[in-house]
Amino acid sequence: MSEKNLEDLDSVGKATAEKLREAGYTNIMEVATASPQELASIVEVGVQVAAKIIASAKESADIGNFVTGVDIFEKRKELERITLGVKSLNDLLGGGIQTEAITEFYGEFGSGKTQISHQLCVNVQLKKDEGGLNGDAIFIDTENTFRPERIIQMAEGLGMNPQDTLKRIHYARAYNSSHQMLLIEKAKEIAKEYPVKLLVVDSLTAYFRAEYIGRGTLADRQQQLNKHMHELLRFSDVFRASIVCTNQVSAKPDSLFGGEINKPIGGNIVSHTATYIVYLRKGKNDRRIAKLMDSPDLPEDETVYMITQEGLKDVS
Ligand code: GTP
Ligand code: MG
Repeated sequence: MSEKNLEDLDSVGKATAEKLREAGYTNIMEVATASPQELASIVEVGVQVAAKIIASAKESADIGNFVTGVDIFEKRKELERITLGVKSLNDLLGGGIQTEAITEFYGEFGSGKTQISHQLCVNVQLKKDEGGLNGDAIFIDTENTFRPERIIQMAEGLGMNPQDTLKRIHYARAYNSSHQMLLIEKAKEIAKEYPVKLLVVDSLTAYFRAEYIGRGTLADRQQQLNKHMHELLRFSDVFRASIVCTNQVSAKPDSLFGGEINKPIGGNIVSHTATYIVYLRKGKNDRRIAKLMDSPDLPEDETVYMITQEGLKDVS
């Protein structure tokens, strides 16, 4: 990826660069793939000038080359997984939470999204032969539901030192959706200093949902959410880390069978960017059901596990 700034492009000064960034064109590749008409209206220049900007971006961008399937196969062998500590869930997800990917857990309140997020912050710290990545975790909390007490219980459940475990979780509370997005920038700094292998955003969509009410601003919301998702994806790429995000549901009428079905918030933007999508529901007592809804390489399947004081467990 090119290290050049937008300001380095032909016909792009400070003001134009600012307009581009505001519209979500944060790097040269995004400008290189824009259409001249779209760019012209955003930066208020003629289509010809816009075309010149795009041509300059194409020259500067590292567009890359085609490779063969063998190269991709070799590269995919480098991907790693964080154990969920539960055989049934690991099996569902092909061995655990994959690095260089976004895994989305969505479900109703109490379905266990925050519990899974906590568990993964502990499990990522396990040694590689124990199913972890010997890595640190970053936890971006939008709902004020991070509980060190739960981390301590889960760490003790695995025979880990609770204080050491807490020290390897880098926590930030987000106060609104813009702040949430800014925290990804901060997260990059942390990941340069510590061996971060997991970044959790719990919840991904709560602020976006609350702040952009009404249809008029839906497009703006989706644009910002899109930007956020791509920044997360880029983080996972650069640091070879796993991204885990949680998402609430909204009940939508089921046109085929009547009644209602739960759909994740954020629509296509979130579901197209997430690599693995898991739907969580409550079962009886402490049981929870996880269903893999979408994956590029695993079959749709469903499994049961439990939430206990010591964390996630297989049903005994
Ligand atoms: P929202 O964020 O409200 O949408 O819900 P969520 O999906 O994040 O739910 P969360 O992960 O917070 O799950 C909460 C549930 O986990 C509780 O209702 C309990 O059933 C269960 N839980 C939490 N702590 C414990 C514990 O120490 N022991 C047991 N057995 N269950 C627990
Ligand atoms: Mg929660």
